[in-house]
Amino acid sequence: MSTLSPGTGGSASGRAAQLSLAPRPAADTDEELETTDGQRGLGPTGRRPRRIPEPPSLDRHGPATVLAMCNQKGGVGKTTSTINLGAALTEYGRRVLLVDFDPQGALSVGLGMQPQELEQTIYNVIMERSVDVHSVIRKTTCEQMDLLPSNIDLSAAEVQLVAEVGREHTLLRVLRPIIDEYDFVLVDCQPSLGLLTVNALTASDGVLIPLECEFFSLRGVALLIDTIEKVKERLNPKLDITGILATMFDPRTLHSKEVMARVVEAFGDIVFDTVINRTVRFPETTVAGEPITRWAPRSAGSKAYRALAREVISR
Ligand SMILES: Nc1ncnc2c1ncn2[C@@H]1O[C@H](COP(=O)(O)OP(=O)(O)O)[C@@H](O)[C@H]1O
Ligand SMILES: [Mg+2]
Repeated sequence: MSTLSPGTGGSASGRAAQLSLAPRPAADTDEELETTDGQRGLGPTGRRPRRIPEPPSLDRHGPATVLAMCNQKGGVGKTTSTINLGAALTEYGRRVLLVDFDPQGALSVGLGMQPQELEQTIYNVIMERSVDVHSVIRKTTCEQMDLLPSNIDLSAAEVQLVAEVGREHTLLRVLRPIIDEYDFVLVDCQPSLGLLTVNALTASDGVLIPLECEFFSLRGVALLIDTIEKVKERLNPKLDITGILATMFDPRTLHSKEVMARVVEAFGDIVFDTVINRTVRFPETTVAGEPITRWAPRSAGSKAYRALAREVISR
């Protein structure tokens, strides 16, 4: 892979190198945006942050809590939150499996994989009974975190599953053999409320809803909550909303604060105290193929996902 190096600037290959997106080492810290109202002790949600205990250490692993990372709107931070919450959970000694359940394969790419080159993906586990899920799971750069990758093949599964008996329980069946090997399974959903997402909700204990701090982001949430309630009623009585995560928050704008206030007003206590700020650090980590907690461990983004991990463990 080409990287920037002195002395190559004049040549054509040097110019190409400068245009390439090869990951460059990042400074470890970034601007620490002031997100708390220091005087009144209020957090970015406008509330006093709850006290979250230090997560207890584990002496054995499993069975996993399965969380669907879900919002039918694209670009709200589902995939980014899946990678970085997963990596932060491993820092607290948790074993984590990330499930790429979006045919776009962005989660797999974000962990440095090239999904089109994989011989087997979650699609094969779903469609071919002879394929063992263990043989498809891949290791990531985080020691305690594995990935069940996907690629565009998965879009065919959505069509093929429609005709099957028990079509909503397919992911549940896929996860059953490995549930005792992990403490958390995070399912990165596609941006739709179709059959794949219904499968994710049927296989999950909880739903984590990333919500962008933008005016229109609230529009689809009622429909999402309605879908969650239907799945709970008809397919999976244990399903609950684990929490709503405000993402892409800009503490310098009144707009972000107004949206935040509306979200807290509408959803109350299920809104996490942790809020993820908008920063270029996240697009950078995608290029690097690594979680932010490894790419820039002391950055504000890393700290935020660690705080989220503590909240998720305590819920
Ligand atoms: N907090 C953030 N600040 C700035 N950019 C972000 C943030 N979170 C995610 N992004 C970027 O926004 C884009 C969409 O995020 P992604 O996690 O892929 O959303 P989704 O999975 O919901 O479609 C990506 O390019 C990602 O790098
Ligand atoms: Mg995504």
